[in-house]
Amino acid sequence: MKIASIVGARPQFIKAAALSRELRKRHTEILIHTGQHYDHSMSGVFFEGLEIPKPDFNLGVGSGGHGAQTGAMLAAIEEVFVAQKPDRVLVYGDTNSTLAGALAAAKLHIPVVHVEAGLRSYNRHMPEEVNRVMADHLSALLLCPSDVAVKNLAAEGITRGVHIVGDVMQDVLTWASERAQATAAEFLSKMQLQEKGYVLATVHRGENTDDPQRLSGVLNALSSLAETVVFPAHPRTVKMIKQGNHRVNSNVRIIEPLGYFEMVSVSRAARMILTDSGGLQKEAYWLGVPCVTLRDETEWVETVNTGWNTLVGANTDKILATVRNHVAPATRPALYGSGGVSAKCVELIG
Ligand code: UD1
Repeated sequence: MKIASIVGARPQFIKAAALSRELRKRHTEILIHTGQHYDHSMSGVFFEGLEIPKPDFNLGVGSGGHGAQTGAMLAAIEEVFVAQKPDRVLVYGDTNSTLAGALAAAKLHIPVVHVEAGLRSYNRHMPEEVNRVMADHLSALLLCPSDVAVKNLAAEGITRGVHIVGDVMQDVLTWASERAQATAAEFLSKMQLQEKGYVLATVHRGENTDDPQRLSGVLNALSSLAETVVFPAHPRTVKMIKQGNHRVNSNVRIIEPLGYFEMVSVSRAARMILTDSGGLQKEAYWLGVPCVTLRDETEWVETVNTGWNTLVGANTDKILATVRNHVAPATRPALYGSGGVSAKCVELIG
């Protein structure tokens, strides 16, 4: 079959790293990069490091308002589909690129495969929630990471074409973990960091970056910690910190976004991870690092139920209390499958 895969944002490059390799054993893949993320540190570095095939089409859409960005992608993706006539369209996760890909395909009656289907935060203010609900309702094959995701879909009347496969990000982490060993020691010594002697923080969600009160709530907490905070910052976060004239203390080391291997290394050696990212909540769990989630809800409820992840929002006192007092649970059951997820996805695609 001819399968068109749509990627555009950082977490999608990571997921494609696992799935593209597997997909190409059996099918012809056309890789379409919408251009949603375009800085080298947000895009190119992942294609190089994770050995992802070069995109066949780069639509160069770039930044913009949600409507303008999604609309520009929709038009450009449709043109590629009309010319290339794929048999299936594969979309990942919940970004504007996901929605544009799924909608363009559905309008042309091309069956949509949604990887990471069925997740819900039940917060419709998040653009990601709107994107994932729409993508699920447009999809013919829904590949879910957990039984909670399957139940979420059933509650919306979606039961056909639904399968639990586990989480494809786990395949990438397993693959990268062996290769990241050398990078780990090198990176820690370059950064002058001690194993478990610092915390790692990332913030990029609009709900945190674009709300000055929430952003200062998080930054004040980071500044009040006694230990070093390594903070690889998304370009949008850097822009909003400058724009709002926010200040941080010298224990907070704001650095450029990291490549995947460096990120795995710095995550594994951290004492704790503070984040509003979805992917990092799971990676923290798989790596056995306690996570503090800077949001009011999460799609990855299983990580919270095991006691490894705590939802704290953006309240300074709450963040500080959790970071200082959290005790890691004694057990860490396998969540989101036991690996080999990409192969299962390809099997189901046909
Ligand atoms: C997007 C996804 C989110 C995902 C995240 C991963 C949507 C609605 N959100 O959020 O689900 O978790 O990617 O990172 O699709 N920018 C740059 N350089 C870049 C990319 C972005 O400077 O390479 C800046 C631009 O100013 C842009 C802003 O970041 O306006 C936001 O980028 P956008 O593409 O809207 O989404 P993310 O916030 O990255």
